[in-house]
Amino acid sequence: MIGRFITLEGGEGAGKSTQARRLAGTLQTHRIPCLVTREPGGSPGAEEIRKLLVHGEPGRWDAMTELLLLFAARADHVVRTIRPALTAGRFVVCDRFTDSSYAYQGAGRDIPRETIRRIESVVLEDFKPDMTLILDLPVEIGLGRAHARGAAETRFENFDVAFHERLRQAFLDIAKRSPDRCTVIDATKGEDDVAQAIWDAVSRRFGL
Ligand code: TMP
Repeated sequence: MIGRFITLEGGEGAGKSTQARRLAGTLQTHRIPCLVTREPGGSPGAEEIRKLLVHGEPGRWDAMTELLLLFAARADHVVRTIRPALTAGRFVVCDRFTDSSYAYQGAGRDIPRETIRRIESVVLEDFKPDMTLILDLPVEIGLGRAHARGAAETRFENFDVAFHERLRQAFLDIAKRSPDRCTVIDATKGEDDVAQAIWDAVSRRFGL
């Protein structure tokens, strides 16, 4: 079995973490070895960097510092967690990856796309997900769910609504620019329906 790298993307409260676990469970019932991971984080060092990013005031970091922290975490995550799993023939399901940097730090915080692309090419060369599922839902529903969850990691939730509207549009634009890699999933549906839509797309894509 060849390892495949699948990422889940979307704004706040889209249900990515739940769906990443469900997708991994379904892969395992098909006897496909699989690792679930997340960004920022996914390796001990990257989880340390995550703590710096997800706590505190929205203005705690200027946009470029934030972007570099994210790519520092990503470099460690890819080298220590993702690549070894893919080399061992496992599927890797990752809750967020580089598309989140284009959306949050690019569209959200005004860093030019070309700047992010240059950093991406230094850090990752041409390493990209094989498939990206973009969980799309209206901002007010997503933020409502995220607030109801009452999690501690609220730094990005606390950016204003216009920021979150830019993110939603940015993810949809990414899907339009990379139609072979990206599938948009309607995340307003119930958890089971979303899980089914994801499995339909993944199984079709990889012939599982
Ligand atoms: P999570 O809430 O999905 O676990 O992600 C943590 C936060 O990190 C989320 O609010 C989005 C943010 N983030 C970025 O701003 N840029 C990135 O590249 C990544 C991976 C996450």
